[in-house]
Amino acid sequence: MTGDTALLNRLKELKEEKNAYILAHNYQIDEVQDAADYVGDSFELSKLAANTEADVIVFCGVHFMAESAKILAPEKTVILPDVMAGCPLADMADPKGVREMKEKHPQAAVACYINTAAAVKAECDVCVTSSNAVKIIDTYPAEEFIFLPDKNLAHFVSTKTNKKIIPWEGYCITHHRVTGEEAKKARESIPDALLMVHPECKPEVVEQADEVLGTGGMIRFARESQQKKFLVGTELGLIYRLKKENPDKEFYLLSAGMLCPNMKLTNLEKMVSSLENLSPSIEVPEDIRVKAKIALDRMLEYS
Ligand code: 13P
Repeated sequence: MTGDTALLNRLKELKEEKNAYILAHNYQIDEVQDAADYVGDSFELSKLAANTEADVIVFCGVHFMAESAKILAPEKTVILPDVMAGCPLADMADPKGVREMKEKHPQAAVACYINTAAAVKAECDVCVTSSNAVKIIDTYPAEEFIFLPDKNLAHFVSTKTNKKIIPWEGYCITHHRVTGEEAKKARESIPDALLMVHPECKPEVVEQADEVLGTGGMIRFARESQQKKFLVGTELGLIYRLKKENPDKEFYLLSAGMLCPNMKLTNLEKMVSSLENLSPSIEVPEDIRVKAKIALDRMLEYS
């Protein structure tokens, strides 16, 4: 267990006092992952947020994740320990732009990645995460989709389905910065490692991968695989969990630049102070929440 003992004890007390449940994304820092009740990918965390009986959810992740929890569980207090923890990818899509795109493609359904703001989800038909995007696009009753905001995930989905995908021009800074050349060099430097990459990586990186998976998929794959060495093409935080759960295996980050500063903003101290004050709490205007919930409910239904 990492982290300061006094802070961990205080967190435990506060959790009981407030009937709180701590969710942490796989990219969070070590001490946050260790202190959480559940560590998981975007989809697992939304499902848990929708079903928990706690009164308070402490969401250790980024803003759109806490917002999705609030949309699904409006009666609960949802706290984001550092309100500055945003997502540059989510910020690349805006409701007006989505409406304009819908006007250009009136026949298309609109699928949004969970990495979007509530007001964007409110304009969309169905939400997806990296773990269920292909399945949802394949089963949702439409032949054509506007897909936003990640163009790399949109491209990956388009290679796995016969449906028409119209991509939005967004990308995750952390994943998009890795080049095909870097991936090739990394493979050459550890030739006996298996390469797993997140579908937010560029197509030139995805093409070289042995497995293309979301963070939860990587955790499961590494656990079940007979392979001993893995090159991991996603954010640094996942390496901690992979190593912790598979002490007999070796994990190498695909590129040193794969670090999301927003995911590193939360720490034990901020978790304690946010739980003491029940702030910063996430609020979503009710008209937007109701519309955004339709897209999230459909994701849960079609997954
Ligand atoms: P996962 O759903 O795979 O955890 O991905 C979340 C994310 O934001 C990737 O950058």
